[in-house]
Amino acid sequence: MKQFQQAEALTRLPEQFFAKLVGKVTAVAAQGHDIINLGQGNPDQPTPPHIVAALQEAALNTQYHKYSPFRGYDFLKEAVAQYYKREFGVGLDPLKEVAVLFGGKAGLVEISQCILNKGDLALVPDPGYPDYWSGLAMAEAEMCMMPLRAENDFLPDYSEVSKEDAERAKLMFLNYPNNPTAGVATIPFFEETLAFAQQHDILVVHDFAYGAIAFDGDRPVSFLQVPGAKEQGIEIYTMSKTYNMAGWRVGFAIGNESVIESINLLQDHFYVSLFPAVQNAAAKALLGPQDCVEHLVDMYENRRDVFISGLKKIGWDVTAPKGSFFCWLPVPSGFTSESFADYLLEHAHVVVAPGIGFGKEGDGYVRAGLLTDENRLKEAVDRIAKLKLF
Ligand SMILES: Cc1ncc(COP(=O)(O)O)c(C=O)c1O
Repeated sequence: MKQFQQAEALTRLPEQFFAKLVGKVTAVAAQGHDIINLGQGNPDQPTPPHIVAALQEAALNTQYHKYSPFRGYDFLKEAVAQYYKREFGVGLDPLKEVAVLFGGKAGLVEISQCILNKGDLALVPDPGYPDYWSGLAMAEAEMCMMPLRAENDFLPDYSEVSKEDAERAKLMFLNYPNNPTAGVATIPFFEETLAFAQQHDILVVHDFAYGAIAFDGDRPVSFLQVPGAKEQGIEIYTMSKTYNMAGWRVGFAIGNESVIESINLLQDHFYVSLFPAVQNAAAKALLGPQDCVEHLVDMYENRRDVFISGLKKIGWDVTAPKGSFFCWLPVPSGFTSESFADYLLEHAHVVVAPGIGFGKEGDGYVRAGLLTDENRLKEAVDRIAKLKLF
């Protein structure tokens, strides 16, 4: 086949580390082994039935078969504003401070193209969600890594950012509850973030993908809860995890009006917003009964308790996550994160994600997702116990 050369922008994209993992898992599964896959971040539960029913009904509305307004229906942005008021006490102008996204991922990649020029610097958490790197690579921006370490509760230490980098940085990515470390933020941390960002004129992009998932009676905090944060940053929210709507591709950017305008402007050229029936059902999800979210969080908490207590019982020194649906597990000595993940796959047929895939600082850990039922999690613990590693 004739090969057309890729544009340079595409050749800059980082390697999809986890595509390699999928290849290894497929090879072991092909040998007929029963694999317990804790390596991915795909919610295992279905979308709540009332949201699916809302889509079914909306799909019959012929008005919704036409193009959406370019920037999405106002009713959806109004629902987002009501959601933020109800859940976080944050007031928003729905028409100026909310942009509709094709999932959080789209916004997280687009934001670098909206704000950064070639050679600009962004502060990036290490370990962190790899999609931040993709947008930065497309924009030809540079990265300054902010290590997230256990001793700092997986929060960045801004005093470690050099004066030069702080001055050069135009944008900072944060993500709490955090993927992959499961660290959670506090209001004092976000106040410190805001002060640092104001001092150095940095746009804060807070990825709030796990904004509904915290345990032990806690609620995740929104960056926008801090007075003044809405001026200095945006938050990226998604329906994927809160309502098990990962396949629906609905997300929002919320916050600074000029940044929201830039995202909308870019998207005016790429899309004509989401299928209107999806927008209608998404609005109903945000405004409707929320007991489905409570049940979901309880379910993850029960899974966490089973898995973490099981791992502790076999002598693995692990910490229970406070939020997200991930466990960030230290790798036993003698292994790298990748060699340990390979070992578990080969000898226990348990898949975990090697921490190195999230950045250099992740290499001492593997990530396990609580995305299978309690019996399978117990089975995973039993299989790991048999390896007598601890
Ligand atoms: C940290 C983080 N941010 C963003 C996303 C993107 O979610 P979506 O594109 O489904 O909204 C994910 C999904 O796994 C995630 O883990």
